[in-house]
Amino acid sequence: MAGDVTPEPIMRIAQGFMAAKHLFTASAIGLFEALANGPATLDEIAVQCRIPRRTLRISADAMASLGLVQQDGDHYSNSPSAAAFLSGAPGPDLRPMLRFWDQISYRLWLNFETAVRAGEGQRQFDRFTDEQQQIFSAGVEAFSAGAAAALAANYDFGRHRRVLDVGGGTGSFLIAILRRFPTLQGTLFELPGACAVARQRLNGEPEGARIVVVEGDFFKDPLPDGHDAMIVANTVHVLSAARNLELLQSLRASATASARLLLVDVWLDSTHTQPPAAALASGEFLMVSGEGQAYGEDDADGWLAQNGWRKLERRPLAGPTSVVIAEAF
Ligand SMILES: C[S@@+](CC[C@H](N)C(=O)[O-])C[C@H]1O[C@@H](n2cnc3c(N)ncnc32)[C@H](O)[C@@H]1O
Repeated sequence: MAGDVTPEPIMRIAQGFMAAKHLFTASAIGLFEALANGPATLDEIAVQCRIPRRTLRISADAMASLGLVQQDGDHYSNSPSAAAFLSGAPGPDLRPMLRFWDQISYRLWLNFETAVRAGEGQRQFDRFTDEQQQIFSAGVEAFSAGAAAALAANYDFGRHRRVLDVGGGTGSFLIAILRRFPTLQGTLFELPGACAVARQRLNGEPEGARIVVVEGDFFKDPLPDGHDAMIVANTVHVLSAARNLELLQSLRASATASARLLLVDVWLDSTHTQPPAAALASGEFLMVSGEGQAYGEDDADGWLAQNGWRKLERRPLAGPTSVVIAEAF
């Protein structure tokens, strides 16, 4: 039995930080973009990325070892997933999410042990510089793009007239939803720093004309009323359980009769270990918000039941993200 046990699982997990940092750097230096038009040699990539050949090879070979780049003789090319999501091709783009995790999250995780020992971290939302706010907002939008598209496609907003997105980030959920439902009106409620990014983003979209941006803190300011659908996407996980109870209570107080509440998040199963991406991201949520974590569907059930919301169902959206749908009663 002991002979079958190897240190390999431990080594693979422990080296995970190297894999992540390699990926962030390969993306930052433009490796995948340099391969967007087809295979290239190290010398050709080095010229395009303006990176010394020796260190470029360290980066490119690590990406090849992880399967994001393929090698054929002395030519490198993008794997299908790198070509689709990291090369600048039209469609979903994960580069802003990598930038966010590299520039903001990676540094925060240096204090992860301190936060775990202390039972809390430091809230970052009010500390962002303008540049960090841009990186954070764009990164979160990239992270949640699949879920935003899936919610717009899989939930019938045709039954609603006015939808409020609380902690709505750049407005990406509202844009996707209002694009499909042309008579729907939207309201985005966000902290001032995020609102500045959202206004820029919405100015470039036709749906922006049907979206009102309201600046505020949902624990200090009144929530906009008169909405029959309310979205809380990836925002429950930046709050403590006690503050989620408070938020769901305020939402219930400002909701119209029979309003629907849509809680979009990486909901964990009853063991709080699945999906694995959510269990890992729990540490990320703690570090960015100081108080949050990934929660289980069982947690949501308890908060809803205590605040006059009747849970209807949980629907899968994209990757580890699903939506808990509830109705005011
Ligand atoms: C992880 S982001 C989610 C953004 C967007 N809903 C999405 O899924 O792409 C959480 C958002 O909650 C906002 N937020 C955090 N605390 C808030 C508060 N007290 N009042 C209003 N918004 C808040 C942050 O500014 C941030 O944009």
